[in-house]
Amino acid sequence: MHHPTHALRAEHQVILKVLDCFEIALRRAAAAQTLAEAEFLPFVEFFREFADRCHHCKEEDRLFPCLERCGLPREHGPIAVMLHEHQLGRAHVRAIAESLPAAAAGDPAALRRALHEGREFIHLLREHIYKENEVLFQMADQMIGDADRTALAHEYESAESQREVRIALTQGRSIADDLCRRYGITPAPGQDGP
Ligand SMILES: [Fe+2]
Ligand SMILES: [Fe+2]
Repeated sequence: MHHPTHALRAEHQVILKVLDCFEIALRRAAAAQTLAEAEFLPFVEFFREFADRCHHCKEEDRLFPCLERCGLPREHGPIAVMLHEHQLGRAHVRAIAESLPAAAAGDPAALRRALHEGREFIHLLREHIYKENEVLFQMADQMIGDADRTALAHEYESAESQREVRIALTQGRSIADDLCRRYGITPAPGQDGP
């Protein structure tokens, strides 16, 4: 049986690839001092639907409660930090989405805000994923016993069987594939396949 964090780690790889694409898009917009809203909307959709609705919610609703049952506190320590960073990420994505129309219409302050929030978000999420992969998920893989591991696998399956989650996952992967193609980034393993 896979480690309890196997699926989440695979999703991290897809998210990291989209962050690489996003970094290129931001760099181009900074150089051109303008952006096209249509180019940035797929990123917003991916970060909201795949990264937040599917991935972060799997962590918040399934993995973290399982770790709490294993004795890890929710109010402080790594779970509290991860929850806080999910909130910070949501605020960045909201700010990016809000500033896009004005930035695309030529408002220099809105463009600066979109670029700034975008860079902050990339930095936050890369660090966040690194901490999860190297610290929290390592702990999870050690703490979660066989019974909880099976229960967790069923919980992920039941999360993914919800229609809107399934749609968000499929669309998120297809957005990630399109972005990797557009920006010349090698897709994550398994990302392009069935
Ligand atoms: Fe997370
Ligand atoms: Fe994560």
